[in-house]
Amino acid sequence: MRQAGSSNNVASVVVIGVDARAMGQIRETLGAEAALPAQATRYEDALAVIRKLRPDVVIAGFDQDFEEAIRIAPQIVADNGRCQLVALASHANPDHIRAAMRAGYREFVVLPDDAELLRQAVHEAIYQEGGDEDHGEVIAVWGSKGGAGATFLSVNLAAELSPVHRVCVVDLDFSMGDVAAFLDIQPSVTIADLMRNLHKIDERMLAGHVVVHPSKVHAVAQPTDLEQREEVKGDTVMRILTTVARTYQYCLVDCGSRLDEATLTAATVADRILLIATPDVPGIKNTWRRLQLIERLGIEKSRVHVVINRWDKREAPFSLADVEQNILRKVDATVAFDKAAARAVNEGKLLREVDKKCPAAKDIEALVGLVTDGEMSVERRASGPMGWFSRFSGG
Ligand SMILES: Nc1ncnc2c1ncn2[C@@H]1O[C@H](COP(=O)(O)OP(=O)(O)OP(=O)(O)O)[C@@H](O)[C@H]1O
Ligand SMILES: [Mg+2]
Repeated sequence: MRQAGSSNNVASVVVIGVDARAMGQIRETLGAEAALPAQATRYEDALAVIRKLRPDVVIAGFDQDFEEAIRIAPQIVADNGRCQLVALASHANPDHIRAAMRAGYREFVVLPDDAELLRQAVHEAIYQEGGDEDHGEVIAVWGSKGGAGATFLSVNLAAELSPVHRVCVVDLDFSMGDVAAFLDIQPSVTIADLMRNLHKIDERMLAGHVVVHPSKVHAVAQPTDLEQREEVKGDTVMRILTTVARTYQYCLVDCGSRLDEATLTAATVADRILLIATPDVPGIKNTWRRLQLIERLGIEKSRVHVVINRWDKREAPFSLADVEQNILRKVDATVAFDKAAARAVNEGKLLREVDKKCPAAKDIEALVGLVTDGEMSVERRASGPMGWFSRFSGG
């Protein structure tokens, strides 16, 4: 394990834009684990101070001037990619959490509730292994309407990647997630257990909360028991995905088709979004609406890929050109309508186990090229995982 930053295992911390009370809470939380300043730096002085001190951790207050805290973050990350950026607020406003993540904050904490989280962020700043470049690629698979094929494609794309990569599917469909069912696994541990122990989450703990399929695809499953349904916060999702991205080279997030805090967070932080559309009028209309939403969320267009699932050139009421004209952008890939898909789902098998040469299996194989930047032959991706948060650190 490589040590970065401080040589004496005490993290150096710069605190920006918080009042004396919050400063007291930070001091109480971090105690001897961090070298803390006597008082907070003003937002306008932050960049100069950080350039001079090169701290391991920057804690920025969101209550005094939220917009300033957002504005300075990308500059801090660009100047010092290894520094852990932590947002501190008096309450967990979902819009602020998403804005924080987009700007490059690694954690969003509310004290005293998240004291353990803050301590862990500081700890990781000293003992980080390899830096951001060691994080895997997070791919959010989002259906533009119910039944579009988000689960089917998440699972089968993961299975295409798994022979040569560490791959995990995270089931974020809290209403009726069925990743485990698609893999024919009865989950003994689920995302609900993970959420209960969130304060202790790390790579080792995650390993005890995944189910493993013979194809080597790992999955964070939803409970089968609907009574265990939980309200999910954005920072919870971010914490889970960050840990998965640290552990696996590819993290496929099955977002279903819902718009909730969990899926909006996943879409915001993902390196890529596969937006799954179906070739029918509601499917196309909802794809266009979803693309509008993605734009409003401030997600770069380059991170979004539109995939038409159940594509049947002869039966489809429109051509691909019609679809593109309606959604005002290109379609990046199609997956054929294939009867083998329903068989695979019903039998709890991967598509390739049912028929590895069927048209849909070939199309999913081709999707690997899309998510690995054209490197169709996944064996050639020997250099390891890609950059979760890489866009934040410019790497
Ligand atoms: N390419 C395809 N060809 C034919 N049928 C397909 C194809 N892709 C998916 N299906 C069928 O569509 C059904 C719905 O797929 P899936 O459950 O993956 O959609 P979803 O977007 O996850 O739906 P939900 O909104 O319920 O989460 C599956 O049972 C499967 O049989
Ligand atoms: Mg689904």
